[in-house]
Amino acid sequence: MDRATLDLDFVRRRFPALAGRQVFMDNAGGSLTLASVADRIHDYLLSSNVQLGASYAVSAQAGARYAEARRRLGELVNAPSPEEVVLGPSTTLLLRLLAQSFAPSLVPGDEVVVSRVDHEANIGCWLALEAAGARIRFWERDARTGELALEGLEALLGPRTRLVAVGHVSNILGSIHPVRAIADRAHAVGALVCIDGVAHAPHRAVDVQALGVDFYALSLYKVYGPHMAMLFARREPFLRLGVANHFFYGPADIPGKLEPGNASYELAWGSAGVLDYLEDLGRQVLGAESTRNGSDAAPSARASREAAWQAIAAQEERLAERLLAFLRERSDLTIVGRPEPDRALRVPTISFVHARLPSSAIVEAVDPHGVGIRFGHFYAHRLISDLGLHARDGVVRVSLVHYNRLEEVDRLIELLAPILDGRSVARPETQP
Ligand SMILES: Cc1ncc(COP(=O)(O)O)c(C=O)c1O
Repeated sequence: MDRATLDLDFVRRRFPALAGRQVFMDNAGGSLTLASVADRIHDYLLSSNVQLGASYAVSAQAGARYAEARRRLGELVNAPSPEEVVLGPSTTLLLRLLAQSFAPSLVPGDEVVVSRVDHEANIGCWLALEAAGARIRFWERDARTGELALEGLEALLGPRTRLVAVGHVSNILGSIHPVRAIADRAHAVGALVCIDGVAHAPHRAVDVQALGVDFYALSLYKVYGPHMAMLFARREPFLRLGVANHFFYGPADIPGKLEPGNASYELAWGSAGVLDYLEDLGRQVLGAESTRNGSDAAPSARASREAAWQAIAAQEERLAERLLAFLRERSDLTIVGRPEPDRALRVPTISFVHARLPSSAIVEAVDPHGVGIRFGHFYAHRLISDLGLHARDGVVRVSLVHYNRLEEVDRLIELLAPILDGRSVARPETQP
């Protein structure tokens, strides 16, 4: 047995939506929410939903809960301190605020590197800095591999480079970018690094210290939580950013200077349930292992989370291999991304196009059978333009996560095979 085998019954019980008939394979769009997250939101709203900052007991309790949520979310990315964790409604908005606050430090001719592979959330906000005199340099894909290559970045970096913005994982290709190496190269020329971690965070542990990044954003609604997002901002560059809040906030007021207006306190409190889940899952994985090995030392919360992520990666690799093996075999399909499932190089966000059928036709033929996949550009608009795929309705994307079962992948394959051959599939009598 693989060292890190997930107990899928244990996992799936935590996501009540999985009890229904719908199969969920649009997880990169948004993952299902943990029951424990929903319970925490419910509890917060019914017991401590008052305005923070007053001296009476319930307000103090609400403030303490929000502080605790921020601390826990900092643990999710291994932030050195909670002040380096900015909370907000979405990654798109947090990156907009970040770029806006970065603008005053620019002088004309300063350069910002963005990629053409990424979701627009980490591109457009930096392009807006052209108004402040920034020169935008595009990191193009390597012509041979179709992926971002470090040599391409190296050719762009120089004494005027102020920031490199790139995704940790492409939400179309599924490829994992070498963030530590990117950060090292950027830092070597004195530039900062801003990583969009949204497509990575549901799949692997994030350690902003090990990655050596300055800014790292992720959306909790794709990591089994509610619709909110967080941005890690390393203290030293954070202190140098401008203020995106009222005049009485100063540059030293972190994280508040990047958090205008009231936050969704209940969602932040709920989000901490993601960490509880990872720790439970890790203890379960390690427990099964220690029973086998005869050891009984209680693992730390961090070791538990680490074990959970490893087991998640192993499960995801199994799922990816099953689907990629089918896609590789078909001469009428092109996999848009790496054809191999290697967990060190890709996540199970798998895109493909058919030689004749538009992507929309494939997805719409699958829909009535209760398997949720998706087509489109997924806001990686520039990548889909570069690939010439807008006219094909973008790619078909199947985005799996650890709670998917191999049987679900088999069900999708069973549906895809005739659809791709242009044969019709009998409609089910009942919809999910
Ligand atoms: C890779 C990536 N980055 C950023 C975003 C934007 O996240 P949000 O909806 O929180 O703004 C998405 C959302 O789909 C995404 O997939």
